[in-house]
Amino acid sequence: MSFFTIQWKKDGIEILDQRLLPAVERYITLKNPAQVVDAIKTLAIRGAPAIGVAAAMGAALGARHIRAGTTKEFLSDFDGIVSFIASARPTAKNLFWALDRMKRRAHGEIGGAGDIIVALEAEALAIYDEDIRTNEAIGRHGRDLVSDGDTVLTHCNAGALATAGYGTALGVIRAAVSSGKRIAVIAAETRPLLQGSRLTVWELMADGIDVTLITDGMAGYCFKEGLIDKVITGADRIAANGDTANKIGTYAVSVLAKEHRVPFYIAAPCSTIDTKTATGSGIPIEQRHPDEVRSFMGVQSAPPGVAVKNPAFDVTPAANIAGIITERGVIRQPYTKNIPMIVGDDD
Ligand code: MRU
Repeated sequence: MSFFTIQWKKDGIEILDQRLLPAVERYITLKNPAQVVDAIKTLAIRGAPAIGVAAAMGAALGARHIRAGTTKEFLSDFDGIVSFIASARPTAKNLFWALDRMKRRAHGEIGGAGDIIVALEAEALAIYDEDIRTNEAIGRHGRDLVSDGDTVLTHCNAGALATAGYGTALGVIRAAVSSGKRIAVIAAETRPLLQGSRLTVWELMADGIDVTLITDGMAGYCFKEGLIDKVITGADRIAANGDTANKIGTYAVSVLAKEHRVPFYIAAPCSTIDTKTATGSGIPIEQRHPDEVRSFMGVQSAPPGVAVKNPAFDVTPAANIAGIITERGVIRQPYTKNIPMIVGDDD
């Protein structure tokens, strides 16, 4: 790949600043948990798995700067850093999954602060490495669901930019293309922050994968014209019954897919599945600043002060989902029965 999303460096965490793409390809270094939280909140780094990796690395970075007299005080300060990073965004399960893992590693370590710091760096790097392998496995399981000649609609960005690398929904596309299938992608723009046009199109074009951009409102036209064979999106949190939170607009796409009898798939790692949340109604939906809707790429596009709704995610009911492609295989309905068989209780 000609770019990387996130990397652990001696002096901090280097990320590709996704706020500037596609116009500017600039890497920035995050040096402390406050900078990590700001980068997550402002979407300099985004996408559920990438947020998890950034959070884990942010926690490891924060641990280095703790000045505590005893191991007990060290762990208490570390838990404070973890809670702070957890406040960055509410919806993506991977954020909390990664931080729980970091906390377990810190508290399970025998030894003093120095040993814990070393262990936390190793854990953050393991989360990073595993994410890439996980996405490749998602790709292997998902590629058989798409046929040679298919056109696949995707919404938002569930690609290399949303993960440590390779991507989930785009990982399936990459794996299908690598296996010799001719696949075309239709990328929905994804208002208000344009993850589809700015990010998905950018990374697919960089890979030479056939991609066509539409605005979100054109999806209905494309389904009606028979232009879409499959839908594959990522997920931010999947409830125990299969209801899935993903980028705002995903629900509407799933309803269109159902109406037009087009299979709608979710591609996500098991770390996105939240078996402790029974249904989608229990998933916290982030509400973002109204100015994101009142403007378009920083240019005012509505009268100032107009009332706005800006939920960042919506929930697609399990009934609309033909399958959930994970690194352990494709989960089919009934999800309440089949999710525990794949995930167990290690969320
Ligand atoms: O607000 P974002 O850009 O973080 O939203 C991202 C999405 O909704 C993605 O589809 C999801 O996180 C899956 S990424 C593999």
